[in-house]
Amino acid sequence: MTELSTIYQLTLVAVTCFIQAHSSSCPVLECWFVQEKAGRGGGFAAATTQEKSLLYIRTDANRHSAETQQTPSHISPDKVYFVTDPAATLCHHSLSPPRGSVQEPQCEISPFLQRPSTLKWVAALTDSAFSPIYLQADWFSVALQGTNKQLGISSIMRAPTGTKEPNVILSVTSKTVSVQARLGKPLLLDCGFWVNPSSPLSGSGFAVEWRYQFRGKGRLVLAYDGKTDRVADTQEEGATLDFEGLHEKGNASLILQEAKVHHSGMYICTVHLPYLLAQVVLELEIVEPPSLSIHPSPLPLAVPGQTLTVQCDASGFAPLSLELSWEFKGADGKTRTLGTGRITGHRQAWDGTYTQSTRLELDTSKLDLGRGGELTCVAVHPGGTRRASMTASVIGFSTPSIEDSMAMVGVALVLYGLIKFVSWTLTSSGSDEADKQDKKEK
Ligand SMILES: *[C@@H]1O[C@H](CO)[C@@H](O)[C@H](O)[C@H]1NC(C)=O
Repeated sequence: MTELSTIYQLTLVAVTCFIQAHSSSCPVLECWFVQEKAGRGGGFAAATTQEKSLLYIRTDANRHSAETQQTPSHISPDKVYFVTDPAATLCHHSLSPPRGSVQEPQCEISPFLQRPSTLKWVAALTDSAFSPIYLQADWFSVALQGTNKQLGISSIMRAPTGTKEPNVILSVTSKTVSVQARLGKPLLLDCGFWVNPSSPLSGSGFAVEWRYQFRGKGRLVLAYDGKTDRVADTQEEGATLDFEGLHEKGNASLILQEAKVHHSGMYICTVHLPYLLAQVVLELEIVEPPSLSIHPSPLPLAVPGQTLTVQCDASGFAPLSLELSWEFKGADGKTRTLGTGRITGHRQAWDGTYTQSTRLELDTSKLDLGRGGELTCVAVHPGGTRRASMTASVIGFSTPSIEDSMAMVGVALVLYGLIKFVSWTLTSSGSDEADKQDKKEK
């Protein structure tokens, strides 16, 4: 009985410890407080100030456990905030790395200017009048990146004027801000959002917008007006959203039916609420390793001293980052490299993939290829290493094998027989010819 109660007590202690550890897993975030300098005008390099700030995160405004911690001396008490995030989005483990870890989450906070949007699929959100008094508060925008380099969060927070206790009103999250995908497969770009149900803005509609950007050029991929449940605009074939998941769970992930090379680039997922917006940026790279082919295949038999040209074509790959080389594996099982060969310029196919070749001059007299072996074309690509091989045989090599010797004896015998036969025919028919010749002359 005592044993049982001990076990019970230990379990209780363990559970309590677990719960404590769990509830304290919301991080204290050190963020850059970035602010535009007063009297901001146009100009490209908008002057900003940067200051360290500290964000204590909690999921319940009534729990003040984190506040007992000492604020580091290098942070002004003026820049310490106590953030309430009921959805615990900011409590992701990737934002609270183990103590002493080199990787730190990236965090930036700045004042947020709320305003109605002029975009046509967002404008409807501000049609209905609601108390603008709610907007009269201190608004902040926080952008975070997890230590795993895959988590991206952007939150809009509201603090009653003059307090340092903002509440998260809107969070937009992506669990995969850096995506690599194969060609031709369906593709999902993760994006989700959460709206604080206690905010008057919740329930007055939302809009989702996906934009694409590559080398400074941008375009709209898809815009969805959640208030009227309408796809306002779509400029990318095969791009869609999971509309049910969007309304039920805030799943704003972009679905691309078939990954193509031209999909590589930056994607911005923006979620609009009336007067507010938050966005996360994702990077997509389509990575497809090459297909290899060698020709001529099979390689014609080589005689010592002969030079053969072999070509290896790598096709259908992206991005344009390829290292081609040749290897030779002799009969002795040893592999050695034959260098890159002569690499041709690349060509781009209609689908955006690349083609590149290498040509190898195989000089059988210079290269000690022995009796032959296996010739391999090696292609190293970010999408993986590919190899294509074929057998290369050299005949008449100085130390022929038993089979070769037997074959040679056989050939010699046949040749001997042939010569014998031909010379016999010639001598016998030679006299006939002479007779005919004689008759003609007569
Ligand atoms: C979002 O929707 C897509 C498409 O239906 C689904 O594959 C994905 O798992 C969903 N994500 C979440 C977090 O539910």
